[in-house]
Amino acid sequence: MTEKKHRKIVVSGIRPTGNLHLGNYFGAVRSFVKMQSEYQCYFFIADLHSLTTHPTPENLQSGVKQVLAEYLACGIDPEQATIFIQSDVPEVVELYTLLNMNAYLGELERTTSFKEKARQNPDNVNAGLLTYPVLMASDIIIHKANFVPVGKDQQQNLEMARKFATRFNHMYGHRLFPLPKPFSFDGKDMIKVPGLDGSGKMGKSEGNGIFLVEEAGSIRKKVMRAVTDSGPTMMNQQKPEPIRNLFTLMGIVSSPETVAFFEDQYNSCQIRYGDMKKQLAEDIISFTEPIREKILAIRNDEAYLSRVAREGADKARESAARTLSEVKKLIGLNRLW
Ligand code: ADP
Ligand code: TRP
Repeated sequence: MTEKKHRKIVVSGIRPTGNLHLGNYFGAVRSFVKMQSEYQCYFFIADLHSLTTHPTPENLQSGVKQVLAEYLACGIDPEQATIFIQSDVPEVVELYTLLNMNAYLGELERTTSFKEKARQNPDNVNAGLLTYPVLMASDIIIHKANFVPVGKDQQQNLEMARKFATRFNHMYGHRLFPLPKPFSFDGKDMIKVPGLDGSGKMGKSEGNGIFLVEEAGSIRKKVMRAVTDSGPTMMNQQKPEPIRNLFTLMGIVSSPETVAFFEDQYNSCQIRYGDMKKQLAEDIISFTEPIREKILAIRNDEAYLSRVAREGADKARESAARTLSEVKKLIGLNRLW
């Protein structure tokens, strides 16, 4: 294997806005764990990004600690990857200021996630929300990332990061930043884990998460409440969205044989959704339970958590400071007198 210094670089982050759910795991964290041995990885907790929704200081503190414990419990290894907290690396914010000078109001206003959030929360359309993709671009390009493992919902933000990187490279006539590409597990498309409430994705803000730290009883209840219909009436009938979602989730956590069994049952109009949900709940629990136990143990080990965060911050700052100094030189912010 090549020496780590020369390996391709990977960057990704998750906002500390709540416990990690199956969407976060299968959309992002699973790739983090897989990539860490092969690439030079930077995985962080995007606490600055979470400020757009004004968390209380207590919630922010506990959210950061929780996600850190969850990263570790999922198998991200601080010996292999650099794990850090975004606000511990102030160089990111400095690059964000510089990138903001070449980010245009029109393109920021057109971003789907901005429009969506502005629509959901008309009383809190703050400038941080508008420039969210610029801060995210800064997170990524400050380490000169080649790959960014994220779920499908982040596709547009990642395109913006490529755009800002390209613009900077052109403007200063230098190929300083590589163009960050999405990475998805096993080369498949970027994934979207559905919610079980009929339509759309599983998300913290959607309020439909099944969490890695969740107790078995609570997972069973959530899965049994999943939206279904009165069942197929024709052989091989197309599945409506809520049913498709149930199958998608099963495809993610259950064995291929289990999925094939229920597909057959559906196609021959014999499916009993109750049985399918029971099986799905048990398969989710077998997957989450060992992670849950690790989260609970690690969360209490504050000395360990704080050591991981400190050592990660040192490594991330070193890499960030190197890029920032190149950027400042290109812009003309390095004093020559
Ligand atoms: P949430 O959407 O729950 O608020 P974040 O926005 O912090 O979570 O997302 C963190 C990571 O998890 C991102 O890479 C995002 O693409 C991924 N992710 C979140 N929800 C899903 C989902 N339902 N399916 C796939 N990936 C997801
Ligand atoms: N915007 C991402 C999300 O909501 C979180 C994030 C912030 C991120 N900075 C990043 C993801 C850099 C990948 C790379 O999920």
